[in-house]
Amino acid sequence: MQISLIILAAGQGTRMNSDLPKVLHRLGAAPLLHHAMAAGQALDPERIVVVTGHGSEAVSKAARAFDDTALIAHQTKQLGTAHAVLQAETAMAGATGDTIVLYGDTPFVRTQTLAAMLDARKRHAVVVLGFNAVDPGRYGRLIAKDDTLERIVEYKDANQEERAITLCNSGVICADAATLFHLCHKVGNTNTAGEYYLTDIIALARAEGLSAGLVLCDEAETMGINTRAELAKAEAAFQTNARTKALENGVTLIAPETVFFALDTTIGRDAVIGPNVVFGPRVTIESEAEIKAFCHLEDCHISRGADVGPFARLRAGAELAEYVHIGNFVEIKNSVLNEGVKVGHLSYIGDANVGDFTNIGAGTVTCNYDGVMKHRTHIGKRVFIGSDTMLVAPVTVGDGALTASGSVITQDVPAEALAIGRARQVNKSGLATKLYERLRAIKAIKKDDI
Ligand code: UD1
Ligand code: CA
Repeated sequence: MQISLIILAAGQGTRMNSDLPKVLHRLGAAPLLHHAMAAGQALDPERIVVVTGHGSEAVSKAARAFDDTALIAHQTKQLGTAHAVLQAETAMAGATGDTIVLYGDTPFVRTQTLAAMLDARKRHAVVVLGFNAVDPGRYGRLIAKDDTLERIVEYKDANQEERAITLCNSGVICADAATLFHLCHKVGNTNTAGEYYLTDIIALARAEGLSAGLVLCDEAETMGINTRAELAKAEAAFQTNARTKALENGVTLIAPETVFFALDTTIGRDAVIGPNVVFGPRVTIESEAEIKAFCHLEDCHISRGADVGPFARLRAGAELAEYVHIGNFVEIKNSVLNEGVKVGHLSYIGDANVGDFTNIGAGTVTCNYDGVMKHRTHIGKRVFIGSDTMLVAPVTVGDGALTASGSVITQDVPAEALAIGRARQVNKSGLATKLYERLRAIKAIKKDDI
């Protein structure tokens, strides 16, 4: 059966105290919105509609960055969650099958939980995801008998007795697309908040003789982010979870509590991650690679058997082939390092291609930027770049060539040539001794002055 997702993300999130729309705040180096989308996308939905309002342009861009087929529905005024769902009706035209409504600010709902809701749909017209809250606070309360729901009452509208209920609404709702829109059209706004509550569709469904069911999940899954404090708490929860998953997948983490993952970090079996490693977005590490202590990686791919660090930084577009060795204080950006390349110490390699088994000496810099434009450096196979070589791009060093230490390479180096680009050394005999005598004499006069 086809399924669709509607993700509500129009709110500003006033309590974040931020210019950034709430769903764009980052959790695991990804916008909150991507977490909700990821949970739903694993169900292989026929379409995803994101309802945007505050910061619509930026939120739409983020939605499409995650899934370029995502449809955007705009909600000009935030009149309530049922009104938000109705904004998706046009984008949902022709959609058949079940629709799951998710909130963009609720990042931990698991795919398995959504699948359980789809399963419960076989028995009920509308299915709500609920949880038993330790502190039910301002959540909507579920009025239920066993697994059958009668209605949902919002905190603001609830009486004393209803507020005592600890069975709460997570906000996730699932129904057949046609039923969902039919019921949302019937929702009014005569309530304390003057909003069109999506939660009202339960009582409306029951009044039509439709059944409403309940799926329960762990409270941790339904955590909504409303404040920076909650975001920080969510980050801690996300990291704990990601570390556990990495360990289960056969990754060695020497000090798990010091490693920080992104939502999309992928690490192969038998990779080893040292202490204090931070993964930004879009990092893939293949099996048996090793990342030593204190490395920062983002948007890069590390192949099998490569080793990186300690203290290395891999930036966007760093592509390391098998058995590449990157040592301490090395930065790599937008560069392809082919098999067995070694960059052992204190180097910057940016906008470069480096051929198989080339060795880059300590202190090498690809001078890729002239203040206006970026240029590429091409280094062939089995090249030896001497320590402290400045490669002024655009420049090409041919296969098997060698550059002398301290060279500034401004012209292409043919294959197998030795390039020396530095001033010739001159030795002046006895001059060191004379120089010291003079300096010591000057120092003595200065002391007398004092
Ligand atoms: C909602 C539920 C409540 C539930 C709680 C769980 C309703 C009426 N209430 O309350 O039962 O316990 O979530 O967290 O649904 N949004 C829009 N457009 C709008 C209004 C909201 O897109 O016009 C989006 C928000 O950006 C947010 C989500 O919908 O992502 C939820 O809205 P919010 O106002 O936070 O609902 P709650 O009051 O938390
Ligand atoms: Ca909320």
